[in-house]
Amino acid sequence: MSTPPRLPPGPKLRFWQPLAYGHSPYRFFRAMHARYGDPFTVRTSALTVVTAHPEGIAQIFTAPADTFHVALPKSQQRVLGRQGLSGMSGEAHRRTRKLISPCFHGESLRGLGGTIHASAVEALQGWRDGAVWEAKDAMRDIGLDVILKTVFGVDQAARLAPFRQAVLEFAAAFGNPAFLLSALLGIERDDWPPNRRLDNARAGLGMLLRENIAERRAGGTARADILSRLMEARFDDGSGFSDDALVDNLITNLVAGHETSALSLAWAFAWLGRHPQAAERLQAEIDGLGGDDDIAAIQALPYLDAVVKECLRLYPAVPDVVRMLAKPLQLRGYEIPAGMNVAACSAVLHMNPEIYPEPERFNPERFLRRSVGGTEFIPFGGGDRICVGNHFGVFEVKIVLAVLLTRGRYTLLEKGPLKVARHGFLMAPTSVRVRYQAR
Ligand code: HEM
Repeated sequence: MSTPPRLPPGPKLRFWQPLAYGHSPYRFFRAMHARYGDPFTVRTSALTVVTAHPEGIAQIFTAPADTFHVALPKSQQRVLGRQGLSGMSGEAHRRTRKLISPCFHGESLRGLGGTIHASAVEALQGWRDGAVWEAKDAMRDIGLDVILKTVFGVDQAARLAPFRQAVLEFAAAFGNPAFLLSALLGIERDDWPPNRRLDNARAGLGMLLRENIAERRAGGTARADILSRLMEARFDDGSGFSDDALVDNLITNLVAGHETSALSLAWAFAWLGRHPQAAERLQAEIDGLGGDDDIAAIQALPYLDAVVKECLRLYPAVPDVVRMLAKPLQLRGYEIPAGMNVAACSAVLHMNPEIYPEPERFNPERFLRRSVGGTEFIPFGGGDRICVGNHFGVFEVKIVLAVLLTRGRYTLLEKGPLKVARHGFLMAPTSVRVRYQAR
């Protein structure tokens, strides 16, 4: 009889672990790390060996692609589809990523700056002087407008409302606590109400996307948006994406890119409102531009860059970047067997005082003093699967912040300490009420 592999330490495997993880991943991972050291073994959605040590993170992110395998559970397939990038592994992932990645970089990205700028200006024009808004909602609305126009390519005003409605229904269905709990417990039946609601909402959104795709197939794709670029992209054999693959990838980008960027903006208001010195320094830097039209100049602002990084560091939207092993992996002295999950844990790494002195403190200056490497700062994951929209996300957050701060003043109305709670798949500050005043 073979002896079972020696796994890193962890608590006895009990039912509470997925629940504690689901409720507060930051607290859960930090407690497990403090108690068991690095790496440690826990059950999140599956049995997982977690590391937050730069050496362990490097071992995960630099392992050959065939070390890992992706098998999305049915609950995630329900949301993302079968042909989206995040559900692929091996050669299929490499081929698809090679086509998608250029759409989010360089010239393609720069071509979207004007649309993002216009979305922020338009939102501002709809706000009454003195109005109080919840930053998560206000930023979600801007983020949604950005995704609809830049990624889905919705360029007719009359189309925006039905698209917005369909996306909100879809987001409400996959962010529904009953669906999240069923996913965690592995309830996959099609007739289970939370699953049925999600399937219907996704079908509604899929129908609108197919109409957009059909129009482009008939009338040409000479536009700057990402859908058009995806439709023009060709694999080495000359073939392009099928309609199903386009729909799944558009929805994957929506799910991966919408709330993540919007919440980064909400975090910026939550932190800057509590740190007037940082807010003043940022305001002075942005005002120094003498306007918000120069997208390249906005991107080059050093303090804005540091503020965005600090927001991404403190409460990373994805606290653990997970990989399933197709082959054994050497991880900090352990051989982790095939079939298990390993995770690079930003929730703990980003609190390492050796990399980030006084890690709990909001202190953007730390990123001006020291640049951090790809195993020290991982809000976008890393390796072959690093977030394909990472440049897009930061690009968008910087433009929106620059426009809002150039044209308005904001007072955070929250008085107590910052509290964090689950927000669909992600974690978010519980309340970020802000009073807006036009400048
Ligand atoms: C601040 C904003 C964002 C954050 C914090 C974020 C974070 C992440 C993280 C942690 C991953 C997993 C990476 C890994 O497994 O190593 C990921 C993957 C991904 N993200 Fe983002 N993301 C953001 C914005 C976006 C945007 C704007 C898009 C597209 C519009 C996007 C599309 C994707 C896709 C398609 C993947 C899967 C990549 C693959 O499997 O190859 N993300 N993101």
